[in-house]
Amino acid sequence: MCGIVGYVGKKDCTDVLIDALSKLEYRGYDSAGIAVFEKNAIKVEKTKGRLKDLVDKMAEDGKPAGHCGIGHTRWATHGEPSDINSHPHGNKRISIVHNGIIENYKEIKDFLIKEGYGFESETDTETVAKLLDYYYDGNPLDTIIKVLAEIEGSYALGIIFRDFPDRIYAVRKDSPLIVGVGEQENFIASDVPAILKYTRDYYLIEQDEICELTAEHVRIYDTRKNVIEKELQTATWDIDAAEKGGYEHFMLKEIHEQPKAVKMTVSPRVKNGMPDFSETGLTVEKLKQYHQIFVVACGTAMHAGLVSKYVIEKIARIPVIVDIASEFRYREPLIGEGDLLIVISQSGETADTLAALKLGKQLGADTFALVNVVGSSIAREADMVLYTNAGPEISVASTKAYSVQIAAMYLFAFEVAYAKGKITEEECRKYVSELMEIPDYIEKTLECKTICQQTAAKLMNADSLLYIGRGLDYALSMEGSLKLKEISYIHSESYAAGELKHGTISLVTKQMPVIAVATQKGLIEKTISNIKEVKARGAMVVLVCGETLDIEDGVADCIIRLPEVDEILMPAIAAVPLQLIAYYTSVLKGCDVDKPRNLAKSVTVE
Ligand code: F6R
Repeated sequence: MCGIVGYVGKKDCTDVLIDALSKLEYRGYDSAGIAVFEKNAIKVEKTKGRLKDLVDKMAEDGKPAGHCGIGHTRWATHGEPSDINSHPHGNKRISIVHNGIIENYKEIKDFLIKEGYGFESETDTETVAKLLDYYYDGNPLDTIIKVLAEIEGSYALGIIFRDFPDRIYAVRKDSPLIVGVGEQENFIASDVPAILKYTRDYYLIEQDEICELTAEHVRIYDTRKNVIEKELQTATWDIDAAEKGGYEHFMLKEIHEQPKAVKMTVSPRVKNGMPDFSETGLTVEKLKQYHQIFVVACGTAMHAGLVSKYVIEKIARIPVIVDIASEFRYREPLIGEGDLLIVISQSGETADTLAALKLGKQLGADTFALVNVVGSSIAREADMVLYTNAGPEISVASTKAYSVQIAAMYLFAFEVAYAKGKITEEECRKYVSELMEIPDYIEKTLECKTICQQTAAKLMNADSLLYIGRGLDYALSMEGSLKLKEISYIHSESYAAGELKHGTISLVTKQMPVIAVATQKGLIEKTISNIKEVKARGAMVVLVCGETLDIEDGVADCIIRLPEVDEILMPAIAAVPLQLIAYYTSVLKGCDVDKPRNLAKSVTVE
């Protein structure tokens, strides 16, 4: 999704903007641009392509020299990636950058055309720029307030006015925005990593708050022009957490951070050996009363929800309905008072998940958000919030966020099972203590790197792959399959192993490798039979299983052995080789591992 930044201070503004935008590259983008005050005029440089293309272009055109400006990385929604559609948009008087979607842009555009405005781009953003120009009366704040009253949709906007070359304005609704506060310099950004090199202090901007920044001050207003006092936040993680730290890719770094991330997520939520969610307001009394639990999310976060369904239903005996947020929100879900809606999101900004959360709330359910990004929209909207302490996840392909999500959901499952009287205190303590050992097991599992690399070499030329498993292994293999396709561009499907013979097995040939996950003791024999079925049809089989499993010769071509823990906890460990296989396949194919094509880290559109 688009990233916005802005800088006002004493430094070379262009350098700061490019540097800050580079920290937002993980969001995914196809064009980039900046607008900087140069001798009191707005100078715009923008281009389709990567930040490097923008830097090259500026080397030819002359780099804008100034101390105040805004910048943007665009992830195309309205209009193809092109120089013209790139941001900033506007004219000599006003220039803006935008993250989000203006839903009523067509009406506004029609109106402005009647008023004599011309349009160059196909973007929704250009209509906001021109609407600002239409209302501009010399007072930026009044102008912005008039425009906010007319635009619908989501936005984080950075705005500069030629008449005020020492300041930046910014406003948000349903798209993230922070204001970084430095010494004699201030910043706007879509996310904290953009400003960490310069300052750790920032304000979290709420819906429709309008910010005015100069080098000396930051003022924040509501839409009635009242000044709002806000609490300054301080980023607890430093720049290293947002840098690669010696790893070739963020994804590999983040895979290796999983032991620490799981520890950071679980440990603070365990008191005297028992789960403790008191920080969220979720009490044992409340948990006892829920009739059903809904878990709603997108992509990897939804896969984490699926793992939790198997675990919660197995040990707490309460129905868990897992849904994709974009489906849930439009299917008139049977959710209401007495139900608990859990939404899971790394970014906390995913548009569909946010909408699902609002819907669940409106229908009377209690809402609980499991979120990584502190202060994000989903975290703020939910009745209760539990932060996963994974630190920033930069790689588009989610790895450590998945691990911490399932870890937190395990703890939640133990708590519900205990609250519902389905497990004793002793059993609960045992589960908790095993969960607390998972970081060490993940660490040990990371040693399977070499075999995953060798496996990737065998898979890299395949056109299509199958992942199979039963029960929790099936839930996990969905994530393995997603990981592979998103970063290596190899098509893959995840199938319940027992379902293959009902149609899909007709696809299996020598050309179709199969990755089988078999960690669930009670299901292993069944899964092995399914593996033999695909093997008999020529498939190359990679088997991921526990270290003690006795396997006949010839069942699999390659076996990845894992340390063994209680079988309900096995997905936390078995996720690692699946992530590594995807990672090495992508590397071997020469793909852009951290920024796969067409994808964005924070999906703020439907
Ligand atoms: C895949 C991936 C996505 C996200 C999904 C939800 O690796 O990262 O599938 O899981 O877009 O994002 P969040 O968790 O930010 O709501």
